[in-house]
Amino acid sequence: MKQDLFSLKGKVCVVTGGNQGIGETVAAYIADAGADIAIFDLNDGTPVAEKIAAEYGVRAKAYTCNVTDPENVKECIEKAAADFGTLDLLFNNAGICLHKPALDCEKNDWAKVIDVNLNGVFYVAQAFAQYLVANHKKGNIVNTASMSATIVNIPQGQASYNASKAAVVHLTKSLAVEWVEKGIRVNCISPGYIKTAITGNSNPEWQKLWIESIPYKRMGVPEELAGAVIYLLSDAATYTSGCDIIIDGCFTVV
Ligand SMILES: NC(=O)c1ccc[n+]([C@@H]2O[C@H](COP(=O)([O-])OP(=O)(O)OC[C@H]3O[C@@H](n4cnc5c(N)ncnc54)[C@H](O)[C@@H]3O)[C@@H](O)[C@H]2O)c1
Repeated sequence: MKQDLFSLKGKVCVVTGGNQGIGETVAAYIADAGADIAIFDLNDGTPVAEKIAAEYGVRAKAYTCNVTDPENVKECIEKAAADFGTLDLLFNNAGICLHKPALDCEKNDWAKVIDVNLNGVFYVAQAFAQYLVANHKKGNIVNTASMSATIVNIPQGQASYNASKAAVVHLTKSLAVEWVEKGIRVNCISPGYIKTAITGNSNPEWQKLWIESIPYKRMGVPEELAGAVIYLLSDAATYTSGCDIIIDGCFTVV
């Protein structure tokens, strides 16, 4: 290739939920593509940031951030922009799942899932975009939705999660259109069952059933999401916004 279309060299990328699971793994790939990394997580991601910096020779720093607190999010965006000198990219990935039948779901159960998965995604995207607009910069965002935006998982009840992820897909499209003129692209990925704490700590009988229902007959691993995120964050995707890439081993196809 004459030009590395997928290079993120010279960019700074915020990764929410970057302390473990999909966020941690994909952050390392984004660093490998050349970007500096700002880990935003409820838990202290300093060891993860140090490992990424040592392994990929980029700058990496962790910020303790609760995505459900818009003031905290704004502070972290400002701090990271000051530390790195700029921000260009956002992998907006923090999320939680609650396995609880809808009939038993209490107000706080429902509100917590919506607060992290939908409100949190919006607060971070908004603060990031406000930073870009205020500084006359272009940038782009990849949100983590889920195949649960499209299908209903069984046998577990998880209506709050499914509804929150369907909303993330439509939020992605809405922000993509609103921010075209600002030069900010907004896309999302929709993973199927991926082996992390969210799935790995679930009922083993459910896991067996899930795997039997996946045409690939296995869960995916976080590494299998990295290429799509890098593509969407890179200049290979300059005409792509409001798009959802489903990465699910054909689960939603059958
Ligand atoms: N694992 C899967 O099968 C799967 C499938 C589809 C979508 N997803 C989505 O991928 C994303 C990452 O999931 P994962 O499997 O890596 O989960 P995980 O539990 O391993 O990691 C989630 C990370 O988000 C952080 N986090 C949670 N609440 C937060 C908050 N309020 N503020 C800041 N950080 C917070 C956690 O501390 C953790 O580091 C989530 O949005 C999840 O819904 C996962």
